[in-house]
Amino acid sequence: MQSENIRNRFLEFFKKRGHKIINGVSLVPKDDPSVLFTTAGMQPLIPYLLGKKHSKGSRLASVQKCVRMQDIEEVGDSTHDTFFEMLGNWSLGDYFKKDAIKWSYEFLTSKEEGLGLDPSRIFVTVFGGNKIIPSKDIESFELWRGLGIPEERIYFMEGNTNWWSSGDSGPCGTDTEMFYDVCGGLNLKNKEEFIKADSEQKIVEIWNDVFIEYEKKDGKIIGKLPQKNVDTGAGLERLAMATQDKDNIFETDLFVPIMSELDKLAKKTNKLSDDISVLKAKRIIADHIRTAVFIIADEVIPSNTGRGYILRRLIRRSVRYMDVLNISDVSMALIVDVVIKKYKETHPYLNEKHTEIKKEIKKEEGRFRATLQKGLNELEKINKENISGEEAFRLFSTYGFPVEMTLEIASENKQVVDIDAFDKEMKKHQEKSRAGAKQKFKGGLIDTDPHTTKLHTCAHLMLAGLRKNLGEHISQAGSNINKDRIRFDVTHYEKIDRDILNKVEDYVNKAIEENCDILMEQIKKEDAKNSGVLGCFWEKYPDIIDVYTIKTEKGMVYSKEVCGGPHIKNTREIKGKFKIKKESASSAGVRRIKCELEYI
Ligand code: SER
Repeated sequence: MQSENIRNRFLEFFKKRGHKIINGVSLVPKDDPSVLFTTAGMQPLIPYLLGKKHSKGSRLASVQKCVRMQDIEEVGDSTHDTFFEMLGNWSLGDYFKKDAIKWSYEFLTSKEEGLGLDPSRIFVTVFGGNKIIPSKDIESFELWRGLGIPEERIYFMEGNTNWWSSGDSGPCGTDTEMFYDVCGGLNLKNKEEFIKADSEQKIVEIWNDVFIEYEKKDGKIIGKLPQKNVDTGAGLERLAMATQDKDNIFETDLFVPIMSELDKLAKKTNKLSDDISVLKAKRIIADHIRTAVFIIADEVIPSNTGRGYILRRLIRRSVRYMDVLNISDVSMALIVDVVIKKYKETHPYLNEKHTEIKKEIKKEEGRFRATLQKGLNELEKINKENISGEEAFRLFSTYGFPVEMTLEIASENKQVVDIDAFDKEMKKHQEKSRAGAKQKFKGGLIDTDPHTTKLHTCAHLMLAGLRKNLGEHISQAGSNINKDRIRFDVTHYEKIDRDILNKVEDYVNKAIEENCDILMEQIKKEDAKNSGVLGCFWEKYPDIIDVYTIKTEKGMVYSKEVCGGPHIKNTREIKGKFKIKKESASSAGVRRIKCELEYI
Protein backbone atom coordinates (compact mmCIF):
# COMPACT_ATOMS: atom_id res chain seq x y z
CA MET A 1 0.00 0.00 0.00
CA GLN A 2 1.44 3.34 -1.10
CA SER A 3 1.63 6.33 1.22
CA GLU A 4 -1.04 8.10 -0.77
CA ASN A 5 -3.43 5.28 0.00
CA ILE A 6 -2.55 5.41 3.66
CA ARG A 7 -3.43 9.11 3.85
CA ASN A 8 -6.72 8.57 2.05
CA ARG A 9 -7.70 5.52 4.03
CA PHE A 10 -7.02 7.32 7.28
CA LEU A 11 -9.22 10.28 6.42
CA GLU A 12 -11.98 8.03 5.05
CA PHE A 13 -11.88 5.85 8.14
CA PHE A 14 -12.43 8.76 10.48
CA LYS A 15 -14.89 10.50 8.21
CA LYS A 16 -17.03 7.39 8.47
CA ARG A 17 -16.87 7.72 12.23
CA GLY A 18 -18.28 11.22 12.30
CA HIS A 19 -15.07 13.25 11.89
CA LYS A 20 -14.82 16.37 9.77
CA ILE A 21 -11.60 16.70 7.79
CA ILE A 22 -9.66 19.89 8.41
CA ASN A 23 -6.91 21.17 6.16
CA GLY A 24 -3.33 21.00 7.32
CA VAL A 25 -1.75 24.38 8.09
CA SER A 26 1.56 25.96 7.11
CA LEU A 27 4.80 24.78 8.70
CA VAL A 28 5.12 28.34 9.97
CA PRO A 29 2.68 28.56 12.88
CA LYS A 30 0.31 31.48 12.60
CA ASP A 31 -0.52 32.39 16.16
CA ASP A 32 1.99 30.48 18.21
CA PRO A 33 5.22 32.35 18.82
CA SER A 34 6.44 29.64 21.23
CA VAL A 35 7.55 27.35 18.40
CA LEU A 36 9.43 28.00 15.17
CA PHE A 37 7.64 25.31 13.20
CA THR A 38 4.42 23.33 13.37
CA THR A 39 5.50 20.21 15.24
CA ALA A 40 2.22 18.32 15.68
CA GLY A 41 -1.25 18.09 14.21
CA MET A 42 -2.71 19.33 17.47
CA GLN A 43 -0.88 22.64 17.34
CA PRO A 44 -3.45 24.63 15.37
CA LEU A 45 -6.11 23.06 17.59
CA ILE A 46 -4.74 24.24 20.93
CA PRO A 47 -7.49 26.84 21.56
CA TYR A 48 -10.15 24.19 20.88
CA LEU A 49 -8.54 21.63 23.13
CA LEU A 50 -8.68 24.31 25.81
CA GLY A 51 -12.42 24.72 25.31
CA LYS A 52 -13.14 27.07 22.39
CA LYS A 53 -15.89 25.80 20.04
CA HIS A 54 -14.67 24.61 16.65
CA SER A 55 -16.86 25.54 13.69
CA LYS A 56 -16.58 22.02 12.28
CA GLY A 57 -17.71 20.29 15.46
CA SER A 58 -16.16 18.05 18.07
CA ARG A 59 -14.65 15.29 15.87
CA LEU A 60 -11.86 16.30 13.56
CA ALA A 61 -9.13 14.62 11.53
CA SER A 62 -6.24 15.90 9.42
CA VAL A 63 -2.95 15.21 7.71
CA GLN A 64 -0.50 17.77 9.04
CA LYS A 65 3.03 18.38 7.82
CA CYS A 66 5.45 18.83 10.71
CA VAL A 67 9.08 19.78 11.25
CA ARG A 68 10.85 18.58 14.39
CA MET A 69 14.45 19.56 14.77
CA GLN A 70 15.17 17.81 18.05
CA ASP A 71 15.90 14.61 16.17
CA ILE A 72 18.33 16.04 13.62
CA GLU A 73 21.32 14.23 15.15
CA GLU A 74 19.43 10.97 14.88
CA VAL A 75 18.70 11.29 11.16
CA GLY A 76 20.52 8.56 9.32
CA ASP A 77 19.22 5.76 11.51
CA SER A 78 16.13 3.76 10.55
CA THR A 79 13.30 5.92 11.76
CA HIS A 80 14.16 9.55 12.39
CA ASP A 81 13.44 12.43 10.07
CA THR A 82 13.20 16.20 10.44
CA PHE A 83 10.04 16.45 8.33
CA PHE A 84 7.06 14.15 8.56
CA GLU A 85 3.36 14.08 7.97
CA MET A 86 1.19 13.37 10.96
CA LEU A 87 -2.15 11.66 10.60
CA GLY A 88 -4.35 12.73 13.49
CA ASN A 89 -7.87 12.49 14.83
CA TRP A 90 -9.36 14.58 17.62
CA SER A 91 -12.22 14.53 20.02
CA LEU A 92 -12.96 17.94 21.49
CA GLY A 93 -14.88 16.94 24.60
CA ASP A 94 -16.60 14.18 22.61
CA TYR A 95 -15.50 10.50 22.73
CA PHE A 96 -12.68 9.45 25.04
CA LYS A 97 -10.41 6.47 25.70
CA LYS A 98 -12.75 3.66 24.65
CA ASP A 99 -13.44 4.84 21.10
CA ALA A 100 -10.01 6.37 20.58
CA ILE A 101 -8.22 3.11 21.39
CA LYS A 102 -10.71 0.94 19.52
CA TRP A 103 -10.43 3.03 16.36
CA SER A 104 -6.64 3.19 16.47
CA TYR A 105 -6.55 -0.57 16.71
CA GLU A 106 -9.12 -1.04 13.99
CA PHE A 107 -7.37 1.30 11.60
CA LEU A 108 -4.03 -0.39 12.14
CA THR A 109 -5.32 -3.92 11.71
CA SER A 110 -8.43 -3.86 9.51
CA LYS A 111 -7.72 -5.17 6.02
CA GLU A 112 -10.88 -3.64 4.57
CA GLU A 113 -10.73 -0.16 5.99
CA GLY A 114 -7.29 0.25 7.49
CA LEU A 115 -3.72 -0.88 7.03
CA GLY A 116 -4.12 -4.58 7.69
CA LEU A 117 -1.13 -4.78 10.03
CA ASP A 118 -0.46 -8.03 11.84
CA PRO A 119 -2.00 -7.77 15.35
CA SER A 120 0.59 -10.14 16.76
CA ARG A 121 3.33 -7.62 15.92
CA ILE A 122 1.69 -4.78 17.89
CA PHE A 123 2.97 -3.77 21.32
CA VAL A 124 1.44 -1.12 23.54
CA THR A 125 2.51 1.13 26.38
CA VAL A 126 0.19 2.87 28.84
CA PHE A 127 0.69 5.49 31.54
CA GLY A 128 2.15 3.95 34.69
CA GLY A 129 1.89 6.92 37.08
CA ASN A 130 4.22 9.78 37.98
CA LYS A 131 4.71 12.22 40.86
CA ILE A 132 1.83 14.43 39.85
CA ILE A 133 -0.66 11.78 38.79
CA PRO A 134 0.27 8.67 40.77
CA SER A 135 -2.45 6.35 39.45
CA LYS A 136 -1.83 3.95 36.57
CA ASP A 137 -4.07 4.09 33.52
CA ILE A 138 -5.82 0.78 34.22
CA GLU A 139 -8.70 1.76 31.95
CA SER A 140 -6.52 1.91 28.83
CA PHE A 141 -4.78 -1.31 29.83
CA GLU A 142 -8.13 -3.09 30.06
CA LEU A 143 -9.34 -1.62 26.80
CA TRP A 144 -6.28 -2.97 24.98
CA ARG A 145 -6.75 -6.36 26.58
CA GLY A 146 -10.39 -6.33 25.55
CA LEU A 147 -9.31 -5.81 21.96
CA GLY A 148 -7.19 -8.92 22.11
CA ILE A 149 -3.68 -7.63 22.83
CA PRO A 150 -2.22 -10.09 25.35
CA GLU A 151 -1.08 -8.75 28.71
CA GLU A 152 2.55 -9.65 27.91
CA ARG A 153 2.52 -7.06 25.16
CA ILE A 154 1.07 -4.15 27.20
CA TYR A 155 3.48 -2.26 29.44
CA PHE A 156 2.88 0.36 32.12
CA MET A 157 5.54 3.05 31.79
CA GLU A 158 6.27 5.22 34.82
CA GLY A 159 7.36 8.85 34.88
CA ASN A 160 6.87 10.99 31.82
CA THR A 161 7.25 8.30 29.16
CA ASN A 162 3.52 8.20 28.52
CA TRP A 163 2.80 11.82 29.26
CA TRP A 164 2.47 14.31 26.41
CA SER A 165 2.48 18.07 26.12
CA SER A 166 3.55 20.28 23.25
CA GLY A 167 5.60 22.63 25.38
CA ASP A 168 5.76 24.37 28.74
CA SER A 169 2.27 25.77 28.43
CA GLY A 170 -0.92 24.39 26.95
CA PRO A 171 -3.13 21.32 26.93
CA CYS A 172 -1.58 17.99 27.99
CA GLY A 173 -2.29 14.55 29.34
CA THR A 174 -1.41 10.89 29.63
CA ASP A 175 -1.08 8.76 26.53
CA THR A 176 -1.02 5.26 25.17
CA GLU A 177 1.48 4.43 22.45
CA MET A 178 1.44 1.74 19.80
CA PHE A 179 4.60 0.04 18.55
CA TYR A 180 5.18 -2.34 15.65
CA ASP A 181 7.66 -5.15 15.41
CA VAL A 182 9.34 -4.16 12.14
CA CYS A 183 11.55 -7.22 12.07
CA GLY A 184 8.70 -9.69 12.48
CA GLY A 185 8.76 -12.59 14.90
CA LEU A 186 10.28 -10.73 17.84
CA ASN A 187 9.19 -12.71 20.79
CA LEU A 188 9.53 -10.12 23.53
CA LYS A 189 8.77 -11.53 26.91
CA ASN A 190 8.87 -8.57 29.26
CA LYS A 191 9.24 -4.83 29.64
CA GLU A 192 13.05 -4.96 29.73
CA GLU A 193 13.17 -6.79 26.42
CA PHE A 194 10.66 -4.33 25.00
CA ILE A 195 12.76 -1.34 26.05
CA LYS A 196 15.87 -2.93 24.56
CA ALA A 197 14.12 -3.72 21.26
CA ASP A 198 12.86 -0.12 21.14
CA SER A 199 16.37 1.28 21.58
CA GLU A 200 17.59 -1.00 18.79
CA GLN A 201 14.75 0.15 16.54
CA LYS A 202 13.49 -3.38 16.18
CA ILE A 203 10.14 -2.12 17.32
CA VAL A 204 9.03 1.35 16.34
CA GLU A 205 6.42 3.68 17.77
CA ILE A 206 3.76 4.22 15.14
CA TRP A 207 0.90 5.97 16.91
CA ASN A 208 0.22 7.99 20.01
CA ASP A 209 -3.23 8.54 21.55
CA VAL A 210 -3.08 11.40 24.03
CA PHE A 211 -5.89 11.89 26.52
CA ILE A 212 -5.84 15.61 27.00
CA GLU A 213 -7.37 16.47 30.35
CA TYR A 214 -4.96 18.97 31.91
CA GLU A 215 -3.51 22.41 31.30
CA LYS A 216 0.08 23.42 31.88
CA LYS A 217 1.48 26.90 32.42
CA ASP A 218 5.19 27.64 32.57
CA GLY A 219 5.96 23.98 33.09
CA LYS A 220 3.42 23.40 35.91
CA ILE A 221 0.07 21.70 35.71
CA ILE A 222 -2.47 24.31 36.73
CA GLY A 223 -5.57 22.12 36.70
CA LYS A 224 -8.03 19.99 34.79
CA LEU A 225 -9.62 21.25 31.61
CA PRO A 226 -13.40 21.70 31.46
CA GLN A 227 -13.55 18.93 28.83
CA LYS A 228 -11.82 15.62 28.16
CA ASN A 229 -10.17 15.52 24.73
CA VAL A 230 -8.41 13.01 22.54
CA ASP A 231 -5.40 14.00 20.42
CA THR A 232 -3.88 11.27 18.31
CA GLY A 233 -0.90 11.34 15.99
CA ALA A 234 0.61 8.73 13.68
CA GLY A 235 3.64 9.47 11.51
CA LEU A 236 2.96 8.68 7.86
CA GLU A 237 6.55 7.61 7.18
CA ARG A 238 6.47 5.09 10.00
CA LEU A 239 3.02 3.78 9.09
CA ALA A 240 4.29 3.32 5.55
CA MET A 241 7.29 1.45 6.92
CA ALA A 242 5.08 -0.97 8.88
CA THR A 243 2.55 -1.37 6.07
CA GLN A 244 5.18 -1.89 3.40
CA ASP A 245 7.01 -4.30 5.69
CA LYS A 246 10.29 -2.40 5.75
CA ASP A 247 12.59 -1.94 8.70
CA ASN A 248 13.43 1.68 7.89
CA ILE A 249 11.59 4.70 6.53
CA PHE A 250 14.08 5.26 3.71
CA GLU A 251 12.87 2.14 1.92
CA THR A 252 9.25 3.28 1.87
CA ASP A 253 7.71 4.76 -1.26
CA LEU A 254 8.12 8.23 0.28
CA PHE A 255 11.89 8.04 0.15
CA VAL A 256 12.71 5.44 -2.50
CA PRO A 257 12.80 7.86 -5.46
CA ILE A 258 15.09 10.25 -3.54
CA MET A 259 17.38 7.48 -2.36
CA SER A 260 17.56 6.01 -5.86
CA GLU A 261 18.55 9.36 -7.32
CA LEU A 262 21.30 9.61 -4.72
CA ASP A 263 22.41 6.07 -5.60
CA LYS A 264 22.61 7.06 -9.23
CA LEU A 265 24.66 10.15 -8.44
CA ALA A 266 26.92 8.26 -6.06
CA LYS A 267 27.42 5.47 -8.57
CA LYS A 268 29.05 7.90 -10.93
CA THR A 269 31.64 8.57 -8.29
CA ASN A 270 31.96 4.97 -7.14
CA LYS A 271 30.57 5.76 -3.76
CA LEU A 272 28.02 3.03 -3.71
CA SER A 273 29.40 0.94 -0.94
CA ASP A 274 27.21 -0.40 1.82
CA ASP A 275 29.48 1.30 4.25
CA ILE A 276 27.30 2.66 7.01
CA SER A 277 28.74 6.15 6.66
CA VAL A 278 27.76 6.23 2.98
CA LEU A 279 24.26 5.04 3.78
CA LYS A 280 23.99 7.58 6.56
CA ALA A 281 25.13 10.39 4.28
CA LYS A 282 22.48 9.47 1.71
CA ARG A 283 19.75 9.37 4.30
CA ILE A 284 20.78 12.72 5.75
CA ILE A 285 20.77 14.37 2.34
CA ALA A 286 17.42 12.82 1.43
CA ASP A 287 15.85 13.91 4.69
CA HIS A 288 17.31 17.42 4.80
CA ILE A 289 16.54 18.33 1.21
CA ARG A 290 12.97 17.09 1.58
CA THR A 291 12.56 19.22 4.71
CA ALA A 292 14.20 22.24 3.06
CA VAL A 293 11.82 21.98 0.10
CA PHE A 294 8.79 22.05 2.37
CA ILE A 295 10.15 24.88 4.52
CA ILE A 296 10.93 27.10 1.54
CA ALA A 297 7.49 26.36 0.10
CA ASP A 298 6.08 27.87 3.28
CA GLU A 299 7.88 31.11 2.59
CA VAL A 300 11.01 30.86 4.67
CA ILE A 301 14.36 31.78 3.17
CA PRO A 302 17.84 30.95 4.52
CA SER A 303 19.19 33.46 7.02
CA ASN A 304 21.19 33.64 10.22
CA THR A 305 18.26 33.69 12.64
CA GLY A 306 15.20 31.65 13.60
CA ARG A 307 13.56 29.55 10.90
CA GLY A 308 15.91 30.85 8.26
CA TYR A 309 18.85 29.58 10.27
CA ILE A 310 17.36 26.11 10.59
CA LEU A 311 16.79 26.04 6.85
CA ARG A 312 20.36 27.20 6.27
CA ARG A 313 21.63 24.51 8.60
CA LEU A 314 19.71 21.79 6.74
CA ILE A 315 20.98 22.88 3.34
CA ARG A 316 24.56 23.38 4.46
CA ARG A 317 24.63 20.06 6.26
CA SER A 318 23.41 18.36 3.08
CA VAL A 319 26.13 20.05 1.07
CA ARG A 320 28.74 18.66 3.40
CA TYR A 321 27.33 15.14 3.13
CA MET A 322 27.17 15.45 -0.63
CA ASP A 323 30.90 15.95 -0.43
CA VAL A 324 31.18 12.76 1.58
CA LEU A 325 29.57 10.99 -1.40
CA ASN A 326 31.80 12.87 -3.82
CA ILE A 327 28.81 14.26 -5.65
CA SER A 328 29.73 17.83 -4.95
CA ASP A 329 29.73 18.95 -8.54
CA VAL A 330 26.23 17.67 -9.15
CA SER A 331 23.76 20.29 -8.25
CA MET A 332 21.38 19.73 -5.42
CA ALA A 333 18.66 20.84 -7.82
CA LEU A 334 18.36 17.31 -9.18
CA ILE A 335 17.35 16.01 -5.79
CA VAL A 336 14.91 18.86 -5.34
CA ASP A 337 13.26 17.82 -8.62
CA VAL A 338 12.81 14.27 -7.37
CA VAL A 339 11.32 15.40 -4.05
CA ILE A 340 8.81 17.65 -5.81
CA LYS A 341 7.93 14.96 -8.32
CA LYS A 342 7.15 12.58 -5.48
CA TYR A 343 4.93 15.06 -3.66
CA LYS A 344 3.35 17.09 -6.41
CA GLU A 345 0.07 15.17 -6.54
CA THR A 346 -0.59 15.38 -2.83
CA HIS A 347 0.99 18.82 -2.34
CA PRO A 348 0.38 20.64 -5.63
CA TYR A 349 1.66 23.97 -4.28
CA LEU A 350 5.19 22.50 -4.33
CA ASN A 351 4.93 22.20 -8.07
CA GLU A 352 3.76 25.79 -8.40
CA LYS A 353 6.76 26.98 -6.41
CA HIS A 354 9.18 24.55 -8.02
CA THR A 355 11.37 27.14 -9.73
CA GLU A 356 11.58 29.38 -6.73
CA ILE A 357 12.39 26.53 -4.35
CA LYS A 358 15.13 25.27 -6.62
CA LYS A 359 16.56 28.71 -7.07
CA GLU A 360 16.68 29.35 -3.35
CA ILE A 361 18.35 26.01 -2.57
CA LYS A 362 20.88 26.42 -5.35
CA LYS A 363 21.66 29.92 -4.20
CA GLU A 364 22.29 28.75 -0.65
CA GLU A 365 24.37 25.83 -1.90
CA GLY A 366 26.45 28.25 -3.98
CA ARG A 367 26.92 30.66 -1.10
CA PHE A 368 28.18 27.88 1.10
CA ARG A 369 30.34 26.17 -1.48
CA ALA A 370 32.18 29.40 -2.04
CA THR A 371 33.67 29.09 1.43
CA LEU A 372 33.20 25.47 2.44
CA GLN A 373 36.60 24.16 1.45
CA LYS A 374 38.42 27.14 2.93
CA GLY A 375 36.47 26.70 6.16
CA LEU A 376 37.27 23.00 6.29
CA ASN A 377 40.95 23.80 5.70
CA GLU A 378 40.83 26.31 8.52
CA LEU A 379 39.22 23.78 10.77
CA GLU A 380 41.88 21.27 9.90
CA LYS A 381 44.57 23.81 10.67
CA ILE A 382 43.18 24.31 14.16
CA ASN A 383 44.53 20.84 14.72
CA LYS A 384 44.34 20.71 18.49
CA GLU A 385 41.99 19.23 21.03
CA ASN A 386 40.12 22.38 21.92
CA ILE A 387 38.53 24.78 19.46
CA SER A 388 38.09 28.17 21.06
CA GLY A 389 34.94 30.28 20.92
CA GLU A 390 36.71 32.84 18.72
CA GLU A 391 37.72 30.15 16.24
CA ALA A 392 34.20 28.70 16.09
CA PHE A 393 32.82 32.20 15.66
CA ARG A 394 35.22 32.95 12.83
CA LEU A 395 34.11 29.77 11.07
CA PHE A 396 30.56 31.03 11.41
CA SER A 397 31.08 34.64 10.41
CA THR A 398 33.71 34.20 7.70
CA TYR A 399 32.94 30.79 6.25
CA GLY A 400 29.24 30.45 7.08
CA PHE A 401 29.62 27.31 9.17
CA PRO A 402 26.55 26.89 11.39
CA VAL A 403 28.05 26.27 14.83
CA GLU A 404 26.20 22.95 15.04
CA MET A 405 28.15 21.83 11.99
CA THR A 406 31.44 22.88 13.53
CA LEU A 407 30.48 20.88 16.61
CA GLU A 408 29.71 17.86 14.46
CA ILE A 409 32.94 17.98 12.49
CA ALA A 410 34.88 18.63 15.67
CA SER A 411 33.38 15.60 17.33
CA GLU A 412 34.24 13.45 14.29
CA ASN A 413 37.82 14.67 14.73
CA LYS A 414 37.67 14.13 18.50
CA GLN A 415 37.93 17.84 19.18
CA VAL A 416 35.97 19.89 21.70
CA VAL A 417 34.44 23.29 20.96
CA ASP A 418 34.18 25.90 23.70
CA ILE A 419 30.52 26.56 23.07
CA ASP A 420 30.04 29.00 25.98
CA ALA A 421 32.80 31.18 24.59
CA PHE A 422 31.20 30.92 21.15
CA ASP A 423 27.89 32.15 22.59
CA LYS A 424 29.69 35.08 24.18
CA GLU A 425 31.30 35.99 20.87
CA MET A 426 27.91 35.76 19.20
CA LYS A 427 26.37 38.12 21.78
CA LYS A 428 29.16 40.64 21.34
CA HIS A 429 28.58 40.56 17.61
CA GLN A 430 24.83 41.01 17.99
CA GLU A 431 25.32 44.02 20.28
CA LYS A 432 27.56 45.63 17.72
CA SER A 433 25.07 45.12 14.93
CA ARG A 434 22.31 46.46 17.16
CA ALA A 435 24.28 49.66 17.64
CA GLY A 436 24.49 49.99 13.89
CA ALA A 437 20.85 49.08 13.48
CA LYS A 438 19.41 52.51 14.08
CA GLN A 439 21.34 53.83 11.17
CA LYS A 440 20.71 50.84 8.97
CA PHE A 441 16.98 50.64 9.53
CA LYS A 442 16.21 54.22 8.75
CA GLY A 443 13.98 52.80 6.08
CA GLY A 444 16.45 52.41 3.23
CA LEU A 445 16.51 56.12 2.45
CA ILE A 446 19.23 57.01 0.01
CA ASP A 447 19.29 60.78 0.56
CA THR A 448 17.64 63.48 2.63
CA ASP A 449 15.72 65.12 -0.18
CA PRO A 450 12.19 66.21 0.93
CA HIS A 451 10.69 64.09 -1.86
CA THR A 452 12.48 61.05 -0.48
CA THR A 453 10.89 61.67 2.90
CA LYS A 454 7.44 61.90 1.33
CA LEU A 455 7.96 58.61 -0.46
CA HIS A 456 9.13 57.07 2.77
CA THR A 457 5.82 57.90 4.41
CA CYS A 458 4.05 56.43 1.37
CA ALA A 459 6.07 53.23 1.79
CA HIS A 460 4.61 52.80 5.29
CA LEU A 461 1.10 53.27 3.93
CA MET A 462 1.76 50.84 1.12
CA LEU A 463 3.04 48.11 3.45
CA ALA A 464 -0.09 48.51 5.60
CA GLY A 465 -2.26 48.40 2.45
CA LEU A 466 -0.54 45.23 1.24
CA ARG A 467 -1.09 43.53 4.56
CA LYS A 468 -4.71 44.58 4.57
CA ASN A 469 -5.29 43.13 1.13
CA LEU A 470 -3.01 40.10 1.12
CA GLY A 471 -2.67 39.06 4.74
CA GLU A 472 -0.35 39.30 7.66
CA HIS A 473 2.38 37.14 6.21
CA ILE A 474 3.44 40.22 4.28
CA SER A 475 6.45 41.92 5.76
CA GLN A 476 9.20 44.14 4.53
CA ALA A 477 12.17 42.29 3.11
CA GLY A 478 14.12 45.39 2.08
CA SER A 479 13.66 48.88 0.76
CA ASN A 480 15.52 51.47 -1.21
CA ILE A 481 14.04 54.93 -1.56
CA ASN A 482 15.32 57.99 -3.40
CA LYS A 483 13.62 61.20 -4.42
CA ASP A 484 12.15 59.65 -7.58
CA ARG A 485 10.91 56.26 -6.54
CA ILE A 486 10.43 53.55 -3.95
CA ARG A 487 11.83 50.10 -4.49
CA PHE A 488 10.30 47.86 -1.90
CA ASP A 489 10.65 44.13 -1.26
CA VAL A 490 7.94 42.16 0.52
CA THR A 491 7.57 38.55 1.53
CA HIS A 492 4.92 36.99 -0.65
CA TYR A 493 5.02 33.89 -2.77
CA GLU A 494 3.18 34.61 -5.91
CA LYS A 495 2.53 37.39 -8.36
CA ILE A 496 0.34 40.08 -6.87
CA ASP A 497 -2.70 40.74 -9.08
CA ARG A 498 -3.13 44.18 -10.58
CA ASP A 499 -6.54 44.32 -8.86
CA ILE A 500 -4.85 44.07 -5.50
CA LEU A 501 -2.20 46.61 -6.45
CA ASN A 502 -5.00 49.01 -7.41
CA LYS A 503 -6.59 48.52 -4.02
CA VAL A 504 -3.27 49.21 -2.34
CA GLU A 505 -2.86 52.39 -4.40
CA ASP A 506 -6.36 53.47 -3.35
CA TYR A 507 -5.51 52.83 0.28
CA VAL A 508 -2.42 55.03 0.09
CA ASN A 509 -4.17 57.77 -1.90
CA LYS A 510 -7.08 57.80 0.52
CA ALA A 511 -4.68 58.37 3.40
CA ILE A 512 -3.10 61.19 1.39
CA GLU A 513 -6.50 62.81 0.78
CA GLU A 514 -7.53 62.51 4.40
CA ASN A 515 -4.67 64.71 5.64
CA CYS A 516 -3.36 62.22 8.16
CA ASP A 517 -0.92 63.20 10.87
CA ILE A 518 2.28 61.25 11.30
CA LEU A 519 3.04 60.91 14.97
CA MET A 520 6.08 59.42 16.63
CA GLU A 521 6.13 57.85 20.07
CA GLN A 522 8.87 55.96 21.87
CA ILE A 523 7.78 52.69 23.36
CA LYS A 524 9.25 49.54 24.83
CA LYS A 525 10.03 46.97 22.18
CA GLU A 526 8.08 44.21 23.97
CA ASP A 527 4.97 46.38 24.31
CA ALA A 528 5.12 47.36 20.66
CA LYS A 529 5.54 43.78 19.55
CA ASN A 530 2.67 42.55 21.70
CA SER A 531 0.30 45.24 20.50
CA GLY A 532 0.80 44.29 16.87
CA VAL A 533 2.98 47.16 15.67
CA LEU A 534 4.60 46.37 12.33
CA GLY A 535 8.31 45.72 12.37
CA CYS A 536 10.67 43.52 10.48
CA PHE A 537 13.95 43.30 12.37
CA TRP A 538 12.70 42.79 15.92
CA GLU A 539 15.75 40.94 17.15
CA LYS A 540 17.95 43.80 16.04
CA TYR A 541 15.95 46.70 17.46
CA PRO A 542 17.07 48.43 20.65
CA ASP A 543 14.87 48.06 23.77
CA ILE A 544 13.12 51.38 23.27
CA ILE A 545 11.93 51.97 19.75
CA ASP A 546 10.36 54.74 17.71
CA VAL A 547 6.90 53.89 16.43
CA TYR A 548 5.31 56.00 13.70
CA THR A 549 1.51 56.15 13.45
CA ILE A 550 -0.28 57.58 10.45
CA LYS A 551 -3.84 58.48 11.37
CA THR A 552 -6.71 60.78 10.55
CA GLU A 553 -7.85 63.55 12.82
CA LYS A 554 -10.73 61.31 13.88
CA GLY A 555 -8.31 58.62 14.95
CA MET A 556 -8.59 56.13 12.09
CA VAL A 557 -5.17 54.45 11.92
CA TYR A 558 -3.73 53.80 8.46
CA SER A 559 -0.35 52.52 9.59
CA LYS A 560 1.63 51.87 12.73
CA GLU A 561 5.20 50.81 12.26
CA VAL A 562 8.62 50.74 13.88
CA CYS A 563 10.98 53.09 12.10
CA GLY A 564 13.97 55.34 12.51
CA GLY A 565 12.38 58.12 10.40
CA PRO A 566 12.43 60.66 8.86
CA HIS A 567 8.80 61.31 7.94
CA ILE A 568 6.69 64.23 6.91
CA LYS A 569 4.31 65.69 9.50
CA ASN A 570 1.05 65.34 7.61
CA THR A 571 0.10 63.51 4.41
CA ARG A 572 -1.19 66.78 2.91
CA GLU A 573 2.48 67.62 2.26
CA ILE A 574 2.63 64.85 -0.33
CA LYS A 575 0.68 66.75 -2.96
CA GLY A 576 0.79 63.91 -5.43
CA LYS A 577 -0.81 60.67 -6.49
CA PHE A 578 0.71 57.39 -5.42
CA LYS A 579 1.24 54.89 -8.24
CA ILE A 580 2.54 51.31 -8.25
CA LYS A 581 4.49 51.03 -11.47
CA LYS A 582 5.80 47.52 -11.39
CA GLU A 583 5.63 44.29 -9.45
CA SER A 584 8.01 41.41 -10.07
CA ALA A 585 9.76 38.46 -8.45
CA SER A 586 12.85 39.32 -6.45
CA SER A 587 13.93 36.01 -4.93
CA ALA A 588 12.05 32.97 -3.66
CA GLY A 589 9.19 34.22 -1.53
CA VAL A 590 10.03 37.88 -2.12
CA ARG A 591 8.26 40.29 -4.49
CA ARG A 592 9.71 43.61 -5.57
CA ILE A 593 7.43 46.61 -5.98
CA LYS A 594 8.38 49.86 -7.67
CA CYS A 595 6.30 52.94 -7.07
CA GLU A 596 6.32 56.67 -7.60
CA LEU A 597 4.44 59.81 -6.79
CA GLU A 598 2.88 61.57 -9.72
CA TYR A 599 2.88 65.24 -8.90
CA ILE A 600 -0.20 66.97 -10.12
N1 SER B 1 0.27 15.35 19.86
C1 SER B 1 0.69 14.00 20.01
C2 SER B 1 2.06 13.76 19.41
O1 SER B 1 2.58 14.62 18.76
C3 SER B 1 -0.31 13.11 19.34
O2 SER B 1 -0.57 13.61 18.09
O3 SER B 1 2.60 12.72 19.62
